[in-house]
Amino acid sequence: MSRDDANAAGTSLHFPQLDRRIPARADESVFQSARRHGVRIVGACGGRGTCGSCIVQVSSGAVERIGAQVGDASDERYGGKRWMRACQVRPRGDVSLEIAPRSLAPVARAEIDTGADDERLPNDPAVTSRDLALAPPTLADPLSDAERVRRALALPHAVFDLTTLRALPRMLREQQWALRVRLRGDEVVDVTARGRPALGLAIDLGTTNVAGFLLDLDSGVRVAGLGIENPQATWGADLISRLNHAIQGDAQAAELRDAARIAINALAHDLTHAVGARCTDIVDVVICGNTAMHHLLLGLPVRQLGRSPFVAAAREGIDAKAPDLGIAVAAGSWVHVVPNIGGFIGGDHVTALLATESEWRSRRTSVVMDIGTNTEISLIHDGVIRSASSPSGPALEGGHIGCGMRAADGAIERVTLDDQGRLVVRTIGDEPAVGLCGSGVLDALATMHRAGLVDARGRLAHAHPAIVPHEGKRAAQLAPGVVFTQADVRAVQLAKAAIRTALDLLLDEAGIDAASIERFLIAGSFGAYIDIGSAIAIGMLPPLPIARYAQVGNAAGQGVRLMLASRAARRQAAELAQACRPLELSTRSDFQRSFVANIGLPPLASA
Ligand code: FES
Repeated sequence: MSRDDANAAGTSLHFPQLDRRIPARADESVFQSARRHGVRIVGACGGRGTCGSCIVQVSSGAVERIGAQVGDASDERYGGKRWMRACQVRPRGDVSLEIAPRSLAPVARAEIDTGADDERLPNDPAVTSRDLALAPPTLADPLSDAERVRRALALPHAVFDLTTLRALPRMLREQQWALRVRLRGDEVVDVTARGRPALGLAIDLGTTNVAGFLLDLDSGVRVAGLGIENPQATWGADLISRLNHAIQGDAQAAELRDAARIAINALAHDLTHAVGARCTDIVDVVICGNTAMHHLLLGLPVRQLGRSPFVAAAREGIDAKAPDLGIAVAAGSWVHVVPNIGGFIGGDHVTALLATESEWRSRRTSVVMDIGTNTEISLIHDGVIRSASSPSGPALEGGHIGCGMRAADGAIERVTLDDQGRLVVRTIGDEPAVGLCGSGVLDALATMHRAGLVDARGRLAHAHPAIVPHEGKRAAQLAPGVVFTQADVRAVQLAKAAIRTALDLLLDEAGIDAASIERFLIAGSFGAYIDIGSAIAIGMLPPLPIARYAQVGNAAGQGVRLMLASRAARRQAAELAQACRPLELSTRSDFQRSFVANIGLPPLASA
């Protein structure tokens, strides 16, 4: 049965290959509508029409092209079919579309037999399954259905979720008194046919991306994973823009809550479909996100969060029934939302700390840094965890950069100098360069600094073969059609200064300097790909020996999977959240001075 998000009336887009139908607006491109509703279409350039990664074909209905600048260049032919860029067309009425295989963000199915290290999860889930074979009622044994299940479970005080209780009589008789019961403690949260899988959904609700992971709760094995863009980006790339929208009124807050819900439901739908299961096989959900994501999802007020002293409505972990959050899984399921640390430092940092604990717990001084649109940093020194959040913005992920794009084929990921001092770029997939992704952005500034294209204050050089006129100003030419402008340099300087300032102030609070850091863990998908040398060269990271750094990938995602697989991990996360001492950077009188001092680029000798 098709999952239908579309309004009863109005234009819709149908994606049969995903079994999805979504509402569309006449003033939006197909790509925009798809993104707003969590359809996992790739769009590396963010819809500017330059990357060619959002290819679709109209199966029925009609579309019109937006603007004249792209023209026939937006059409491509494969195998006799006419494909077009989804960001360059908008629907004229109901349209059915096929997404080109290369434009569909892939579901990563785990190889169950050969799980990677991070998939050897503990197997201590909050929800367990019991198979029951009941004797049918008779006049001599006329117990109610619920009592009959309690007796078979040997749990006389078991309680039933109401929706589960409503389903029970029919399920018992359809299944001829043999069924599978899901228990969360003493609560029966689901009844289903024997043989149905017990799945759990772990969600890392990031500001930019939302990652979902499907676990088999019976074995603790990850069975699939998928990442999509956060549809809340419609209301701004950064948290403050979204909070400003949410505080305008209940309807606006509901828009953001709905966007988060849509993303989670889209992940649940696509992940379960990819493994031949159903959304209703999901019987437990754990979600982590920064404090703003947490509040917006839960419908908590955010007015107080967006202004000093940035007070959260709640810090503790919250358990809510899935239907109360609009999450379309088994109706009796609980959703556990990971506790926050304080300020904007949220549950995603708690899970990053949880996942990396074995790395930092045994050392005197460590740092865990999760770089993203908001960068969270914890300094662990002498057993005390000091944490801060820094609004580093999207520049380091390629956002708000003139030629910035997501990491995809054609994105410049490395910039180096050749023997003659010329800039050399490497692109993902060795495709012709169409833009810069996050690691390329960092490399570009570091290499331009080494090559003398920017000075210590970040000003572009006047005379250099790589400096070209661009829209009336100077810019560094990295590849044909890809430039790095003065505004781009400034954006990266501001981002890296925000991160370094947060680290410096945490070190100052602990009364130590950077040289004391024995282990420096860089988490996050952006952090996984950066060149540490480049990050040091521009002053974003301190000049420690490279061996002290470790890039640990999506630790937040790994931690939230742990919490789904293990009740002990859930308790440990709650303790970590309580133990962290949040530092509100704006309360430090030297914040501005430190920030300004960190904007410049370090002397080359120390880079
Ligand atoms: S997102 Fe459509 S061309 Fe890049």
